[in-house]
Amino acid sequence: MKLVIIGLIVHVYTGIGRVALDVRLGCLSGNLTPDSEPQKIIDAAKFALRNVAVLELKAPYWRYVPTPLWSRYVRNMDYFIEICMKYIDAAMERLRTKKAINEFDLSLVERILAKETDPKMAYILALDLILVGIDTISMAVCSILYQLATRPEEQEKIYQELVEILPDPSVPLNTNHLDKAIYMKAFVREVFRVYSTVIGNGRTLQNDTTICGYKVPKGVQVVFPTVVTGNMEQYVTDAKTFKPMRWLKESSDESLHPFASLPYGHGARMCLGRRFADLEIQVLLAKLIRSYKLEYHHKPLKYKVTFMYAPDGELKFKVLQR
Ligand code: HEM
Repeated sequence: MKLVIIGLIVHVYTGIGRVALDVRLGCLSGNLTPDSEPQKIIDAAKFALRNVAVLELKAPYWRYVPTPLWSRYVRNMDYFIEICMKYIDAAMERLRTKKAINEFDLSLVERILAKETDPKMAYILALDLILVGIDTISMAVCSILYQLATRPEEQEKIYQELVEILPDPSVPLNTNHLDKAIYMKAFVREVFRVYSTVIGNGRTLQNDTTICGYKVPKGVQVVFPTVVTGNMEQYVTDAKTFKPMRWLKESSDESLHPFASLPYGHGARMCLGRRFADLEIQVLLAKLIRSYKLEYHHKPLKYKVTFMYAPDGELKFKVLQR
C-alpha cells in the first residue's frame, strides 16, 4: 500500500517536471537506484524545503561562516540549477528544430523560450517552479488523503458524487467532470481551512500603515497566519466542526469571512501555481476515490509544522479496490 501512496506523491514530481522543464522526470519508475537522476531530484527537493526554514529562522551563523548545513544547501541548489539548465537547453534545441510554430503546439517552456531570447529567464522560472511546486502539493495531498481515510462518511459522499459524474471509471477524466465534483472540491477547501498546508504568508510593509487600530511602521514584516484565522470562531461559524458543506452556495452558514482562509495567499503575490495545484489535486482525488477506498487503522497522527503543515508519521493506508 505504501507503494501506492509513494506513487501518488512522485506523481506530483512528474507533473511539475512536465510544466517547468518540459520533460517527464521519470520519478514514477519503480526501483529507482539512489544515484539515479529521478531519485536525486526527489532527495534534493526534499532537502531544500526541509532545511530552508532551519537556515532562515534559526541563528544565521551561515551569514558569517559557511556552516556544514549551508555548504550542503548550496551544493544542493547547484544540483537543481544543473538539472534545470540541462532540460531547458534541450527544450531550446527542440524548439530550434521544430517545424510548425503554432502557439497551441508549444509547451509552456517552449512558449516562454519562443518569446524570451535570454535562457536565464527560463532557467529561473523552472527553478522557482520546481522548488516551490513539489513539496507543497505532495504535503497537501498527504493531508487530504489522511483526512479522507479518517473520515469515511465524507469519503463515501465524495465517492457517490464521483460515481454519478463518472458512471464508467475507465472514461478519461476531463474538465467537465471536474466542474461537477462540487463536494470533492468543498472537502479540499475545508481541509485547507482547518489544516492549511502553508500556514501563512508575510509582507514587508512599504509604508507606515494602520491595521485594526495598530500603527505599524514601514519595514516591519506582517504575517498573516491563515491556519489560525481559518479556525477562529470570530470569522467562521462553528469553526471547530469539519464541514465541507459550508463552502457550498446552498449552505446557510452565517459567517465565513472571505479572508479567513487563504491557503494560497492573496493579492499580487498570491501563489502562482494555484490553478496547477488545484487541478493536480482534483485529478488525483477523482481518479483515486472513484476506484479505491482508503482506510487508516493506526494510531491517530498529529499535525506538525516543518516547512509545511502536514500529518507527522507514516501514512499507512489500506487501499481497497471498489
Ligand atoms: C497545494 C499546493 C500549494 C500551496 C498550498 C501553495 C501556497 C502558496 C502560498 C501561501 C504562497 C504565498 C502567497 C502570498 O504571499 O500571498 C505561494 C507562493 C507561490 N507559489 Fe504556491 N502553493 C502551492 C503550490 C504551488 C505550485 C504547484 C507552484 C508552481 C507550479 C507554486 C508556485 C508559487 C510561486 C512561484 C509563489 C510565489 C509568488 C510570488 O511571490 O509572486 N505553488 N504559494
